[in-house]
Amino acid sequence: MTEALLEELSRLEREALAAIGAADHDDALERVRVEYLGRKDGRVSAILRGLGALAPEVRPKIGAEANRVRDVIRDALAWRTAEVAARTQRRREAPLDLTLPGRAEWMGGRHPVTRVIDEISAIFASLGFTRARGPEAETEWYNFVALNTPLDHPAADMQATLYVHGRVLLRSHTSPVQVRVMERYPPPIRIIVPGMVYRRDAADASHLPAFSQIEGLAVDEGISFVDLKAMLAEFARRFFGPAARVRFRPSFFPFTEPSAEVDVSCIICNGTGCPACKGTGWMEIMGAGMVDPAVFEAVGYDPERYTGYAFGMGPHRIAMLKYGIPDIRMHHENDVRFLSQFAE
Ligand code: DAH
Repeated sequence: MTEALLEELSRLEREALAAIGAADHDDALERVRVEYLGRKDGRVSAILRGLGALAPEVRPKIGAEANRVRDVIRDALAWRTAEVAARTQRRREAPLDLTLPGRAEWMGGRHPVTRVIDEISAIFASLGFTRARGPEAETEWYNFVALNTPLDHPAADMQATLYVHGRVLLRSHTSPVQVRVMERYPPPIRIIVPGMVYRRDAADASHLPAFSQIEGLAVDEGISFVDLKAMLAEFARRFFGPAARVRFRPSFFPFTEPSAEVDVSCIICNGTGCPACKGTGWMEIMGAGMVDPAVFEAVGYDPERYTGYAFGMGPHRIAMLKYGIPDIRMHHENDVRFLSQFAE
């Protein structure tokens, strides 16, 4: 009997405290009070009222415990009532303001250089070129020797190229991927190779020690300089707009013969001359040429049977021309005022 009553009191205490914790307004608290401490039917009150009917030797123990449980419940009710009142007060002082504007969602966008790379790749994909990639840590063989560039060429100098160790360096252009692809696959080849390249240059308005290039290579029987010109003219029209024209100036690269610098008519003044093209009407966009037979020999292609063209351009620079960006370093300052101008 004694044990059963003590257990009942302990259960009532636990239930009441849980109900008080869950009650979040005055009405709910009042219901809890009536259920446990109500004068007429309160469950703790009933036990207190029945004390007189208990055997005198158990009465003090049960009585003390019943009083303690009643006090605990009463204190908890008082504490929770004050807390609910304080919260109501806080709400009244700082009411929910539904007229505040919402927080705008931040949407990322593609970096302008990434956009240029994607656009150029898509144009060449539609013209039959497959995207290829190669390692950024290269050997002297792929970066120079197989590309008909002797190691005493100024480009191979330690002062110009970032060597990792021994004969391994950070590629100074994407042209080594030409060699890797030709070593692996027989002609015909039509590839476009986007990627990062590295040079031992200090950063200034037109140089970065790490920047992007896109290499192009087409090899087949019967490819001539006419194909190169037609392909690059078509590329310029699709990328810069239907009025764009290209111009080829004689140049030199060890891995092409003949070689050319390719200019596109200025997209700002359409060729009449303006500050963007320094009054010339033209903007330089890439190097190009017919693949030198020595490169075909290095990869085991028959130079009597196959010819091809190659070109290389810099998306960092092309993005500057296309969007009128004055300083190449802006691409990597991560300034949202700059980047948000290219939101799509
Ligand atoms: N690799 C050259 C550079 O980094 C760019 C280049 C010029 C690539 C002519 C070519 C090419 O494929 O034919 O300056």
